[in-house]
Amino acid sequence: MYDFYADTKTKPTPEMRRTVLDCVVGDEQKDEDPTTTELCARVAKLLGKEAAVFLPSGTMCNEIAIKVHTNPGDEIICEQSCHIINFETGGPAAISSVMIKALHGRNGMFTPDQLLGAIRPDSRYMPQSTLLCVEQTANMGGGAIWPLEQLQAVSAVAKDAGLATHMDGARLMNAVVKSGIPAATYAEGFDTVWIDFTKGLAAPVGAVLAGSHEFIAKAWRLKQQIGGAMRQSGIVASMCLYALDHHVDRLADDHTLASNLGDQISQLALVKEVLPVETNIVIFDLKDAAPTAAEIVARLRADGILAGAFGTRRIRIVTHIDVNATAGEALMELLKKYLGTDAREVA
Ligand SMILES: Cc1ncc(COP(=O)(O)O)c(C=O)c1O
Repeated sequence: MYDFYADTKTKPTPEMRRTVLDCVVGDEQKDEDPTTTELCARVAKLLGKEAAVFLPSGTMCNEIAIKVHTNPGDEIICEQSCHIINFETGGPAAISSVMIKALHGRNGMFTPDQLLGAIRPDSRYMPQSTLLCVEQTANMGGGAIWPLEQLQAVSAVAKDAGLATHMDGARLMNAVVKSGIPAATYAEGFDTVWIDFTKGLAAPVGAVLAGSHEFIAKAWRLKQQIGGAMRQSGIVASMCLYALDHHVDRLADDHTLASNLGDQISQLALVKEVLPVETNIVIFDLKDAAPTAAEIVARLRADGILAGAFGTRRIRIVTHIDVNATAGEALMELLKKYLGTDAREVA
């Protein structure tokens, strides 16, 4: 079975697994795990921040950051397709008691003017806008990369209005590899930023959230409170370190495969539109004459290929270390069969 559902499905390679055997471990909750400490120091440096904390998942990074940056009743500003709104089971409401202002952007990104219009005036009646969140790359925007100037412009608007800024960098390293812009440069206007090791970097567990010393001290208290503190976490941190050394540059291969697939998919008769393919995600919409996305995904599954249906007519496929050109050919063969001919056009 070829799994194009998500880059979260990657399995650790044999070389990555072998790093576990020799790694030095200790009690992470007491800052005694040297491997985890090294990972946090490396990620803090990579992202240009003072400090960092190792967490089990990216979702926990987002939720802890929101909680630290806000007070109950505040409003945070995000793009409507983002992970925080759609895939964190209402965490901002449940954990932080905040409201969310959802901006309708383009491919997961919005303009400085949209942000400016969304920031609440100072009023005793209104919620207070206290946090801006962006996703680099924008997952449901088709893996789109926020251009640096646009990122800097939105963070400047937020800062001018006194908001804190947070970057969900689940796939920040994809943006870095594609654009050649350093991670710390993308992260510059953001108080907090994290990267995920379980996406294209292909480690089995872990994400690292970075920010100021003061922020990380507060994040640590929440990590303990919600049960995210760990013990001999070097076992998994060692695989994250391996990923930093060996799995960053190869993201370019995922981008090439996604771009090839996007080009071919855009030629299919029953495909209405493919979102611009910039990194490792291909999102495309089906014409009305096509079967629904759920039907196509079910047919693919029956033929040994996994993809995702997001909405009745939208399909997402994601490239990563465990799918290569051969898998891409198998996928395209099936998609041509299902979507290659528009019966109405032929008639
Ligand atoms: C953009 C984005 N943010 C956050 C997450 C959550 O990461 P995790 O699966 O590590 O909790 C994901 C996961 O797919 C994601 O795509």
